[in-house]
Amino acid sequence: MTPGKPPVAIDLFAGAGGLSEGLESAGIRVVAATELHPQPALTYAFNQPNTSVLFGDIRELSLDFLAETVRHRTGKIEVDLVVGGPPCQGFSTAGKKAPTDPRNSLFYHFVRVVEYFRPRMFLLENVPGFKKMHDGQAFSRCSHMFRALGYSTVDATLDASHYGVPQRRQRFIMVGWLPGAAAPFPWPLQTHGDVGTNEELPLFPSKLLPFITAEEALDDIAFLEPGWESHRHQEAARTDYQRERRNRCNLLFNHLATRHRPKAATIFSFIREGGTISSVPPSLRSAKRTMARLDRKSISNAVLALPDDIIHYRHDRIPTVREMARLQSFDDDYVFLGKRTSGFLERRVDVPQYTQVGNAVPPLLGRVLGAALLKCLGGIQQDLRDLRQRRERHKWIRGSSGFAGYTLDPTAQGKIAITDIRGRIHPLPASTDDIPVAQSKSPFEWKVYATPPMRGQWAPTVTPKKSPAYMMEPGCDSGSQRR
Ligand SMILES: C[S@@+](CC[C@H](N)C(=O)[O-])C[C@H]1O[C@@H](n2cnc3c(N)ncnc32)[C@H](O)[C@@H]1O
Repeated sequence: MTPGKPPVAIDLFAGAGGLSEGLESAGIRVVAATELHPQPALTYAFNQPNTSVLFGDIRELSLDFLAETVRHRTGKIEVDLVVGGPPCQGFSTAGKKAPTDPRNSLFYHFVRVVEYFRPRMFLLENVPGFKKMHDGQAFSRCSHMFRALGYSTVDATLDASHYGVPQRRQRFIMVGWLPGAAAPFPWPLQTHGDVGTNEELPLFPSKLLPFITAEEALDDIAFLEPGWESHRHQEAARTDYQRERRNRCNLLFNHLATRHRPKAATIFSFIREGGTISSVPPSLRSAKRTMARLDRKSISNAVLALPDDIIHYRHDRIPTVREMARLQSFDDDYVFLGKRTSGFLERRVDVPQYTQVGNAVPPLLGRVLGAALLKCLGGIQQDLRDLRQRRERHKWIRGSSGFAGYTLDPTAQGKIAITDIRGRIHPLPASTDDIPVAQSKSPFEWKVYATPPMRGQWAPTVTPKKSPAYMMEPGCDSGSQRR
């Protein structure tokens, strides 16, 4: 690390950039990121103007090329930190738990990058099941490889709600450091907890702040009825959490409320606040097993990638992408690009906005982890996010976050580079036909706007039987269906 300069990091399996967003806001400079899919990679590149994003399969990534990418940003190839969350479907208790799932081997590629760069520290993030699945084999193999490379490691399962995220979400975190090059890692102290609702003065006042409830996180943007979209807040922020997420940004993105079919709305109407699908008459339930309505006075359960698991506490609709992003602690100026959602078949090949949000590490958790890493690496805590440039870019966003997603003004071409792992630059989904978001003042009925011809979206035509690959020619028409 150059004295006086912030530590430099690479983010692998970076998705839409939740972890990077947190690290940057703590004072760690993320200079390069890799991600399989162009949809989250585009979101990442749009919001993180000072990071080079490479999309493509990490198994085919040349590390010399990644090093050149780092050199392009910093003038040298050394990095202080490698972070990343190799896909966890194979390890997750919600997944199929298949030991032969080839994605399980992706953590080897995390080790490969650590071996190549020999950063002073690394941080590996995953689901809690990572440590126990397959008789703990994945975890012990991983630990063994890191020890062989000379790293000391610690690991723990943290709950994001303990750090001010309005959501119970557990993540397995493993941190490693090279003794002598970085100090041992101190786990961040819990700041939020269940301090009870008793209004009498407690005998031993808790040092913890109360958990952030769904209402405290969402109420200022909960005005949206099904079928409407708004690019303005409309109402004043009422809590510190809401004010922090707005961070003086006066635009609202990805806030489009689904108009459900009458049958779905009827099912939702049977579930009271805090209740689950068990209160829906069996004759109406279809195949769906999990569904719960948010309780405005409680903390939300984990935001999963399938949005129809959660119903808004005030409306008979699922939360908007923005409401999910609020529950994940993304700031309102963070724009999600690509398709809003996908039909059942397209989910095999798409990473739509809802999935990008649901997959992310909550930025607030990333920030406390970043602050703890800084103590070991020796940097100062500061917000390195380039919010000025990010908000300049808001002027390029056109249209609706509807099923085909936003388009960008063609002036964005050349200023936002979507580069694949072979160094090829790909065009953005650009168009001048849509209305710039910054000019749309009041809520509008989204069906009017969100049915444009699908211009240049970063999604494949779906031929699931023939096409196991995630990769596609960018710019081809989407085969999406509206939810
Ligand atoms: C859990 S998400 C990461 C979330 C991210 N850390 C964040 O905070 O937003 C895992 C990501 O790994 C990506 N991925 C899956 N297989 C990959 C591969 N073979 N090469 C590179 N990235 C891959 C997925 O597309 C997904 O976005």
